[in-house]
Amino acid sequence: MTHTLLRGRLLSFLRAPQDLGDSGSYFYESDGALLIKDGLIVACGAYDTVSAQAPANAVTVDHRPHLIMPGFIDMHLHFPQMQVIASYAANLLEWLNTYTFPEECRFVESAHAARIATHFYDELVRHGTTTAVAYCSVHKTSADAFFAEALRRNMRMVGGKVMMDRNAPQGLLDTPQMGYDETRQIIAQWHRKGRNHVAITPRFAITSTPAQMEATQALAREFPDLHIQTHLSENHDEIKFTCELYPEAIDYTDIYARYGLLGDKTLFGHCIHLSDREADAMSEAGSVAVHCPTSNLFLGSGLFPLKALARREKPVRIGVATDIGGGSSYSMLRTMDEAYKIQQLLGERLNPLESYYHMTLGNARSLSLADRIGTLDVGSDADIVVLNAAATPAMALKMEVVKTLPEELFLLQTMGDDRAIVETYVAGVAAKSAI
Ligand code: GUN
Ligand code: ZN
Repeated sequence: MTHTLLRGRLLSFLRAPQDLGDSGSYFYESDGALLIKDGLIVACGAYDTVSAQAPANAVTVDHRPHLIMPGFIDMHLHFPQMQVIASYAANLLEWLNTYTFPEECRFVESAHAARIATHFYDELVRHGTTTAVAYCSVHKTSADAFFAEALRRNMRMVGGKVMMDRNAPQGLLDTPQMGYDETRQIIAQWHRKGRNHVAITPRFAITSTPAQMEATQALAREFPDLHIQTHLSENHDEIKFTCELYPEAIDYTDIYARYGLLGDKTLFGHCIHLSDREADAMSEAGSVAVHCPTSNLFLGSGLFPLKALARREKPVRIGVATDIGGGSSYSMLRTMDEAYKIQQLLGERLNPLESYYHMTLGNARSLSLADRIGTLDVGSDADIVVLNAAATPAMALKMEVVKTLPEELFLLQTMGDDRAIVETYVAGVAAKSAI
């Protein structure tokens, strides 16, 4: 394969930024270049240095004056909810029962699942997201469609068939044995095929009987390297109902702990209303709290204490995500704009460096995949986003007075969406322009 040389302004994080002036937390090159071969970044640095390493037949793409960053990572969303987005409901449980569960029933049809999978990846790429962690429906057909399309597009995706055996319509229920067997089949068929990762996915404690939680525990023991994803502490009524279903547990987090599901590969969506004890337990286990700001606002679930959880004596690992279709935008820029506003309401500051850290290296670390994605480091997958902070007339006008990189990032986050995504490269191949 030939080499590709991308020229532009490079930005990649080295560690979590301490404050807005923490220029040591990132690598920035104002006239930079990336050299890409066979889907990997083989050189990164100043244009003069990197272009000197490129062979004569390298294809050069000049993205100046735009910013070149690692592709965004979305840590939590629901593939079968593309037609649930923008559903008018008072709260989480009403939204699930009225819109979400009926819609997910349609994914028993493989043709429907395949059609939605095409749209799903188109939207991710359109919004600059190159890796996402997704819930499929209960049906194996939905996971097959999800992973087949990821393989076709050569995208690094994490996903799993949800296991759910109660408190949902008949068409959405498996059994402990079925959930176990089908998850094993999906692992055998799809895990590490191309860039696919299968996640063990009990939907949440409300929709799993104790017997299904035991089956989940068996899977987690058999496949200790796999991610586990589920929901935790999203909404007060949800928490109350969950604790009634598991009266022996001391709190919601303890339910998952009792079934051996608290570990450093476990991704808990939401975690808005955790007690100190629960946050300590998560911290000790190295589990990740995945913040889904547009969803939390849309469903009125609550204000996630991101900064407070991160600065505890026992800090909790954080991820950020869209939570489509409870979430209201596919854009990680829109997502971090809402995350910023939630911290404002809590009297906290989330600075733009932190936001971009979370969307890239932060999420990659929370996924234990930072050796492959989330940076522009040599050897990483060439999953890349190119950003234009003057993408709309209003943004261009504001850009006239923007002087610093953090100001530019903040403008992109505050006003940007898919229009600010000039190009998305998946394993070194331009994917947005190919949609
Ligand atoms: N809890 C269990 N399932 C879901 C879901 O699909 N979306 C959200 N936001 N919360 C959930
Ligand atoms: Zn969710």
